[in-house]
Amino acid sequence: MRKLSIFITALILYSFSCGTAKDAAKRSSSINPYQYVGSKKVVCENGAVVSAHPLASKVGVEILKQGGNAVDAAIATQLALAVVYPNAGNLGGGGFLVARLNDGQLLALDYREMAPASASRDMYLDKDGNPMLNNSQNGHLSSGVPGTVAGLFASYKYAKLPFEKLIQPAIDLAEKGFTISESEARSFNALQKDLKKCNSVMPVFVKDHWKAGDTLVQKELANTLKRIKAKGQSGFYEGETAQLIVEEMKRGNGIITLNDLKNYQAKSRVPLTFDYKGYKVVSMPMPSSGGLLLNQMMKMVEDRNIDQMGFLTAQSIQLMTEVERRAYADRARYMGDADFYKVPVATLTSDAYLKERMKSYEPTKATPSSTIQPGAISGYESEETTHLSVLDKDGNAVAVTTTLNNSYGSRTVVGGAGFFLNDEMDDFSIKPGTPNMYGAVGGEANAIQPGKRMLSSMAPTIVLKDNKPFLVVGTPGGTTIPTSVFQTIIDIIEFNMNTEDAVWKPKFHHQWLPDEIAMEKGIPDEVQNALRKMGYKLSLRGGIGRTEVIKVLTNKKIEAVADNRGDDSAEGY
Ligand code: DON
Repeated sequence: MRKLSIFITALILYSFSCGTAKDAAKRSSSINPYQYVGSKKVVCENGAVVSAHPLASKVGVEILKQGGNAVDAAIATQLALAVVYPNAGNLGGGGFLVARLNDGQLLALDYREMAPASASRDMYLDKDGNPMLNNSQNGHLSSGVPGTVAGLFASYKYAKLPFEKLIQPAIDLAEKGFTISESEARSFNALQKDLKKCNSVMPVFVKDHWKAGDTLVQKELANTLKRIKAKGQSGFYEGETAQLIVEEMKRGNGIITLNDLKNYQAKSRVPLTFDYKGYKVVSMPMPSSGGLLLNQMMKMVEDRNIDQMGFLTAQSIQLMTEVERRAYADRARYMGDADFYKVPVATLTSDAYLKERMKSYEPTKATPSSTIQPGAISGYESEETTHLSVLDKDGNAVAVTTTLNNSYGSRTVVGGAGFFLNDEMDDFSIKPGTPNMYGAVGGEANAIQPGKRMLSSMAPTIVLKDNKPFLVVGTPGGTTIPTSVFQTIIDIIEFNMNTEDAVWKPKFHHQWLPDEIAMEKGIPDEVQNALRKMGYKLSLRGGIGRTEVIKVLTNKKIEAVADNRGDDSAEGY
């Protein structure tokens, strides 16, 4: 009992460490998966990793210490997350990587899930045309073709160490197990009913009662990882693992085939970039709305002296809410996989368009969403995800956001292979105007088509100052992702806030529909009252995102801050 309480105390300790490479070398390099301490902030010189789980961040830093670069560390951290953070870390989901390499190269890798070949526009509607949300949000039919493993190999082109070294820590964690935390135990306990409903082969997560300090061993997952280690990408998309996925599909009403798996490809995209007051922001383009929304929102506040308004004042919340509202209205109409639908990116980000969008803005009054439609375009131009931020000693910066969609995705674990499948199909617009699980609506641009990628909100982002990495930032949170990234960057750049305040202090969110500001608790009553007087409807909600930030300080040190809304941990050396 005592050991357990020490462990729990250790996990919630906010430690602050500062050390040199020499100090680090003196410390033991081995990670103890049965006893470990997370850290909310670290200031260091050589490299840092921030992720949702202390063990995954530690794995990433070990890889940096072994001579790996930020891409190596990002790969190893993602693989470790697939083991120690099954709510969102994954092999059965997808994600995006944005990087700025130290030779100046900018990368945007798209390993978003894809609609299977036999998917169709109305596949989640019943015979009367009513949406069947249970099918798009749970179980076998809700899964898109997983992209993560292809993404890891697409990014591996930029890595330095042998792949075996990057995957071994994940194999060890799965095979030998690791100690789970209080919040993980709670989350596994809450999952039991769904696990039984969505699986016919019961996975290791099924248990009468989980408690903090229990060890989670995942032998089947270890074997899946070993097949990837032995055969690379085809060790997942072909052979035994692919077979197991297809057999699992048959046990439910899933439609992913061997061909869907074999044909899956990660894609290299042109990163979405824009300038903001001398900074250069690099983020994810379609099929994520994340970068484009961030671009629109930042540009709509750029010339409005937001720094004079102050952090969390009624005035600054009002301005940010109004730009969020306008950007999200455009998301609903114009955004989707650009390989299938022409997304008018240049128009939506042009100064003239954004100026026009803000014409109806009144600084003392809410603009009702009913009066804000997606902007007019003339002559149409030719909650669980996880984020990790990495920076290495050579200045390579990597931001990765990866997801199963909601916590534990479809809740279906591939029998014999030990990993959860995503429920990402719900990110498509299953019927025009029908909200997805994050309340987002869409239409034609994001309608289901075979081989198409569902619109995302994920926004792994790097901010450059003097053309060098300044911030590496991102978060989970469904549609709240772009607003969290937006607010974090504005807090740091405009309000001059320190990194931990920018990450930890309350956030708020408006997404056009529903017409309300969703807020975390902690926003002063007088600010809330002032907003109500201006005509805003406010709704209190739980934590918004789990933002992970690395900031390069003026003395060349690196500051890494993990969100305090979960077990997230910042590690460095
Ligand atoms: O891609 C997206 O935008 C969503 N599937 C992300 C889901 C998410 O962030 C859930 N996390 N809390």
